[in-house]
Amino acid sequence: MQKNYAESARRYMDAVAAIVASMPRRPAYYIETFGCQQNEADSERLAGMTEAMGFVRAADPDGASLIIYNTCAVREHAEKKALSLIGEAKHRKAANPDVLIGVCGCMTAQPHRMEEIKRHYPYVDFLFGTKAPERYPEILYNALTSNKRTFYPDDYDGVDVPAEDLPVKREMTWKAWLPIMYGCNNFCAYCIVPYVRGRERSRQPEAIIAEARELVETGCKDITLLGQNVNSYEYGFASLLRELDKIPGDYVIRFMTSHPKDATRELIDTIAESEHIAHHFHLPMQAGSNAILKAMNRRYTREQYLSLVDYMREKMPDIAISSDIIVGFPGETEEDFEDTLDAVRHAQFDFIYSFIYSPRVGTPAAKLEDTTPHEVKTERFARLLEVQNAISRAKNQRLVGQRLRLLVEGPSKTNPEVFSGRSFHAKLVHFTGGDESLTGKYAWVEITGADVYTLTGKFVGV
Ligand code: 5AD
Ligand code: SF4
Repeated sequence: MQKNYAESARRYMDAVAAIVASMPRRPAYYIETFGCQQNEADSERLAGMTEAMGFVRAADPDGASLIIYNTCAVREHAEKKALSLIGEAKHRKAANPDVLIGVCGCMTAQPHRMEEIKRHYPYVDFLFGTKAPERYPEILYNALTSNKRTFYPDDYDGVDVPAEDLPVKREMTWKAWLPIMYGCNNFCAYCIVPYVRGRERSRQPEAIIAEARELVETGCKDITLLGQNVNSYEYGFASLLRELDKIPGDYVIRFMTSHPKDATRELIDTIAESEHIAHHFHLPMQAGSNAILKAMNRRYTREQYLSLVDYMREKMPDIAISSDIIVGFPGETEEDFEDTLDAVRHAQFDFIYSFIYSPRVGTPAAKLEDTTPHEVKTERFARLLEVQNAISRAKNQRLVGQRLRLLVEGPSKTNPEVFSGRSFHAKLVHFTGGDESLTGKYAWVEITGADVYTLTGKFVGV
């Protein structure tokens, strides 16, 4: 049975708002987000609801009376990082027992982690997973009105309908995450995502188009459509892109992530013919050996993958293609790894995210025998980076002397004289000669230098 919690979310939001209104001053909240853009988007929804209930945002956790950790479980490192920060919350609770501490997200969607936090982190007041942010107001209400700790495992019925019309508090006005679907049906052998985010659920196209239109009308210039596999969007991804592209205005639409088995030529043609869809594909290859791709349950061959890349380049010679690669999957031989290096050389990615395989409890790959020593994996990882870094640097250097139109993201963290911006092809550029008024606007920049990860340039004009 499907349930839609939007109605009850609104009732609980009113109830919490009434409690907050009776407090001597408005309490502050802080959300710490780990992991991917989907998690950032979820946090923006949690923040929107929290503010609608009367809380104000705190700049750091020190001043907050509500702290939420939105966690990631994709690799062991991500879980360790979250657990260590949650561990620090112990001191916050000791200093002020009224602080409410909540943990949610992919890590707590795993029953063994929920149990662990329940048992070993007694100062955590409430826990929930990923499937229903719309149940968060109810959870917060319970946490505020009872002295009991509250745990909401993800195994309840329903919540198949993603709730619409709940408030969102976006980080920026000019750049937005726009989730189009949730969950994943692919069950790649190494991946925890299908277990912690459940089956695929797509939002209705009308709701997505209306949200995009409103964003563009209120000045947003960069919209990233989000889903674990946007290519299997239930109502047709290419046609969704065509509809979105019709929205009038000066803006860019990006999307991530794409599964190569579902990226169609129709989709590539649609992008090539569009006005607003960025010429950038994040297309995780994961491995370049057919034996490993099969063991990973990726359901494509290296030949199919590389021919897709060739077709993209043929249709859009300026396209940027990025990828994810896993090194050291159980059973990966030196020969398999060489195949990956070879595919990386062929594909000429603009950039990659590479990872050493990390076994995840409950996934099929975690049960495979893994005899490759860790030193061999780190050595392969370094060799992969060396190959890719040379490609990235050479590709970036070809842009020196050109002018690129960037959406300016603001001053760089380390030097207020230097500004950062991103191109239509998702290239990050650090440039001089700009000022604060450019943030969130388009600017033309001449590229003067190039390295592996970034380009440098100088401001030319708007
Ligand atoms: N170990 C290492 N990397 C992983 N990824 C997903 N699961 C694992 C794992 N168990 C990587 C994949 C995916 C990216 C988001 O994280 O490359 O595309
Ligand atoms: Fe994980 Fe594969 Fe789904 Fe991506 S497509 S989230 S790697 S199971």
